Amino acid sequence: MTETNSSSLTRRELLTAGAGAAAAATLPSAAGQTVAPVPNMPTSSRELWQWARTQPMLDLQTAYFDVAGGGPTLRAAMAAEYRAREVQSIGLANAAERWTEETNRLALRFATFLGCDADELQFTRGTGEALGQAIAGLDLAPGDEVITTTREHPAALSPWLVLARRREIVVKQIELPTPLTGPEQALGLFAGAVTERTKVLAFAHVQYDDGAVLPVKDLCAFARQRNILTVVDGAQALGMVEFALRDLGCDVYATCFHKWLSGSHGTGALYVRRETLDRVWPVEPRGLDSVPPVFTPTDADGNNGVPAALHKLGSSVPYLWPALRGVEAALEFQQQVGRSKIEARVRELAIYARLRLQQVQGIELLTPARPGLWAGILTFRVPGKTAVDLATAVERTHRVHVRAVRWPNDEGGALRLSLHVFSTHDEVERLVQGLQQALR
Ligand SMILES: Cc1ncc(COP(=O)(O)O)c(C=O)c1O
Repeated sequence: MTETNSSSLTRRELLTAGAGAAAAATLPSAAGQTVAPVPNMPTSSRELWQWARTQPMLDLQTAYFDVAGGGPTLRAAMAAEYRAREVQSIGLANAAERWTEETNRLALRFATFLGCDADELQFTRGTGEALGQAIAGLDLAPGDEVITTTREHPAALSPWLVLARRREIVVKQIELPTPLTGPEQALGLFAGAVTERTKVLAFAHVQYDDGAVLPVKDLCAFARQRNILTVVDGAQALGMVEFALRDLGCDVYATCFHKWLSGSHGTGALYVRRETLDRVWPVEPRGLDSVPPVFTPTDADGNNGVPAALHKLGSSVPYLWPALRGVEAALEFQQQVGRSKIEARVRELAIYARLRLQQVQGIELLTPARPGLWAGILTFRVPGKTAVDLATAVERTHRVHVRAVRWPNDEGGALRLSLHVFSTHDEVERLVQGLQQALR
């Protein structure tokens, strides 16, 4: 195999590659301005996915199946970020004057993509930071209950456990079965755990360990009827499955741009539903030096022209904007290729991988099989074998990178495969061959 894409970006590439480079040279004046169209994008399906494969900075000789761990960054995103950093450095003298305009522009651009209002978005360095800010900002009293699961990522569970220590809230972790058999099963388990002290339901949109897609809309509708807040961890959803935040009906949604979106690393967002924003205290209250101080983020309360959530929760745009310019190129990629097309391709590759893995003797699939309950993550184990050993073996013999993850009640752990549009059927075949060899 001679295909390679792993060389470093040259300066010429940095200056010319991809969407956003030209647009980023000067700070834009028009709110909502987008980056330039993705150049040279083929329209036929076969060529489109071959092209998509060359867009991120990725060693194509290794089959990379761990987007759920970290997404390779699009070249266009890196180029846009680099150009923005040049502008940042050269324009430091006049930077402060531009924050309001740039903050509004970015909030509107991302809100349009995410399906919410600009007033509902806070930019963060990732999902964990977004969850940490929201959870620490909630007014919960001793004895108030939060219902979550035993399957949360540590970044999603830890902020609740800290609150349990500091304020004696009660964190109840329900056990989600694997594989989940239907959305009603998840709903029934949450519903069965609710009491009159329950104030929050907290869960992942897509589970990071087995890739189960939870029925977010149903869970949020159930909670809202009972005046219970919902806090959703969307680290594994954005860029893989198509959705609009307002449509999900959650109060809080945390996500990142550095996994399935293939944007700049160290970027993410916190969504707080407009009607819920009054219930979240700022943990980094930069807006409080406004006159009058802003505790309630409405225009009437001293909003200085910056969208409400960013104003109230403390905008990080002055630090993050070059990286967010990079993410804009990733948004453009998603929109021009088509979010539904990307989801369909991811699902198609994952179904192919499931069919092939089912044929490997000894493998037990842990990801739900029911359509709609899973997407681009496929987890499996081989009873009696250690996942780390298998991952090491396929990497060494077949250059396939797949992630070993912890698995409840199994010291051997499990293997998690995450497939994105730059993955191929041939790479899946390589994994299957590698596993067959390792299990012989
Ligand atoms: C479900 C889930 N939540 C939260 C996180 C933490 O995300 P971030 O790195 O964006 O803080 C991860 C990271 O893998 C995750 O899988």
